[in-house]
Amino acid sequence: ELGRFEHYMQKEIHEQPESLRMTLSGRVDSRTANITLGGLTNFERQLSHFKRVLLFGCGSAWHAGLIGEYLIEELAELPTEVQYSSELRYRNPLIEEGTLAIAISQSGETADTLAALHEVRTRGATVLGIVNNVGSTIARETDAGVYLHVGPEIGVASTKAFLGQVTVLSMLAVYLGRRKHLSRDTISTFLSELERIPEAIEQTLLLESQMREIAYKFSGRQNWLYLGRGINYPTALEGALKLKEVSYIHAEGLPAAEMKHGPIAMIDEGMPVVVIATRDVTYQKILSNMEEVRSRGGEVIAIVNQPDAQIERLAKNVVVVPRTQPMLSPLVASVPLQLLAYHAALSRGLDVDKPRNLAKSVTVE
Ligand code: M6R
Repeated sequence: ELGRFEHYMQKEIHEQPESLRMTLSGRVDSRTANITLGGLTNFERQLSHFKRVLLFGCGSAWHAGLIGEYLIEELAELPTEVQYSSELRYRNPLIEEGTLAIAISQSGETADTLAALHEVRTRGATVLGIVNNVGSTIARETDAGVYLHVGPEIGVASTKAFLGQVTVLSMLAVYLGRRKHLSRDTISTFLSELERIPEAIEQTLLLESQMREIAYKFSGRQNWLYLGRGINYPTALEGALKLKEVSYIHAEGLPAAEMKHGPIAMIDEGMPVVVIATRDVTYQKILSNMEEVRSRGGEVIAIVNQPDAQIERLAKNVVVVPRTQPMLSPLVASVPLQLLAYHAALSRGLDVDKPRNLAKSVTVE
């Protein structure tokens, strides 16, 4: 079943171009600027009445939700909030009329997410599901939804399901925005960029030997930072989670500018700091954050999509991924971080598919 791969995690990372083709298949058409989401057909008219969105999930699904927040605010212009399922349940979630709640879960069996679903529904929200596992409990209990269609994910670390969730959220953001301010041209351009993502990931996968080298160089260091801004702040969180769960190295993901409000004190000689610096409005700012790291002896590992002289000066390790529409950059920038975590775990002799203390789906609260 593993074919040419050694582990499910590696196989699933490499399957991502094909998996996302399945996620997009029959749903996105850039020529006609159309999105068809079969699971929402009966909801189409109702969807235009929602005034705000509440996304919830756990772990990587929560990170996908954070990326979804940027996408929905930007493309659908709807106020959006993201909650950990486990926290949502025990606060006093104020579900105003017109709230569209969306449960995000690969397995569809996560107990915290299921409990949160029950809570928000009791309070009157309409609940959609973004789920991979067809016919799972969460899929059955939501009012409607969009499946990921990425195929079964076996490795404990979520890889292709995470990218599938982000892909569905980007389709959903356009779907919610298309009858509002988004022009046909804007939609068409965005969708053609989305259609190109599987190919961009194929190119990104060619970076595996570079990521392996970086992993072996730094996996002896027990503390890492991951920095990103804007829509790539959640990418930083996801990269840090991947490293923690499979290699047991301590890593913290941060919005880059927050570093100077405390965590910068931790930076010492040789500390690995992964910085996502793909081009968007925050590019110059993130270069200053890199400078802050470098001047304190930190070792910058920069993920960029348009290298320049400044990057070469600031980072000894430069990883170049293909350029995409900035809102879609997490789909590409996440891939080297998955490979980094995978090889860091291997270099430490660990079982990447079954990390200690973890189960594929967490069915207890
Ligand atoms: O099956 P779910 O998507 O509901 O699972 C949520 C989390 O348990 C899951 O994403 C977890 O954080 C992964 N092991 C991360 O790689």
